[in-house]
Amino acid sequence: MQKTLNPVLKAKALDNRLPDPVLGDEWAERVMRRLDPDYDKGRFGTSQMGLVAVIRTKVHDDWARDFLAGHPDAVVLHLGCGLDARVLRIDPPETVDWYDLDYPAVIALRRRLLPARAHCTLLGSSVTELSWLERIPRGRPVLMIAEGMIPYLTEPDVRRLLTTIVDAFPAGQMQFDTVPVWAWRTSRWDPTLRKYDAEFHCGFDDPAKLAGWHRRLEYVEEAPMYGSPLLMAKAPASTRRLYRLLTLLPGLKRSIRIVRFRF
Ligand SMILES: C[S@@+](CC[C@H](N)C(=O)[O-])C[C@H]1O[C@@H](n2cnc3c(N)ncnc32)[C@H](O)[C@@H]1O
Repeated sequence: MQKTLNPVLKAKALDNRLPDPVLGDEWAERVMRRLDPDYDKGRFGTSQMGLVAVIRTKVHDDWARDFLAGHPDAVVLHLGCGLDARVLRIDPPETVDWYDLDYPAVIALRRRLLPARAHCTLLGSSVTELSWLERIPRGRPVLMIAEGMIPYLTEPDVRRLLTTIVDAFPAGQMQFDTVPVWAWRTSRWDPTLRKYDAEFHCGFDDPAKLAGWHRRLEYVEEAPMYGSPLLMAKAPASTRRLYRLLTLLPGLKRSIRIVRFRF
């Protein structure tokens, strides 16, 4: 399950080698090289097929920057952080307290591969064991970012997580991505997920409806991923052609939905 962080990290590392990268994340390249010195030498070498995952990361970064610009006193809950160097990319002011959470084994790896930083705390825990929330200061606006993580939880666990966070803080933004019900139901047979020993446990055909889980929660917007103009602008021509073809498949264009909410 924790292995799912590998392909997204590789996508970010390869992006950094484009002449005009989407993210420009030097950390991803450094960390990927240490995990697998030959990561760019395999069958698909430096193909940028994973670039769409980088688009998702960019959306989450932009939304986070946007929220932090208006809430410099926020606490950030970066859930299922994997080896993503978001806090280093965003470089928030010292007034922001940032928490990177993932399974203990991932956090141990993170400690080895990424530098420590003031006002950034690592939490090794399953996100569903909500006792980790007791370590977070209350009474301040909260930014919850869960990139590529929600589909791995069950719906009751997602609901408990979101509603508990809304109850615990006076105001905030929640941003995450979901898959539709068909992608969840077929995930057991998805060759990519099988390769990483992973399976989805929830799906939503209309993620905006999650706002109905709490009276203070309000849906804000969705960002395009496969249909992103940035993807078309930045992808090398061969990758662009392939993505154009793929988006003709019914359902694929919106097979991952990046959404944000506020309360
Ligand atoms: C696809 S990776 C995404 C990693 C990172 N957010 C990124 O975009 O690069 C999914 C991450 O969610 C973490 N994860 C999944 N279920 C979790 C849980 N119950 N508790 C904590 N972390 C979890 C995995 O360990 C993994 O690091």
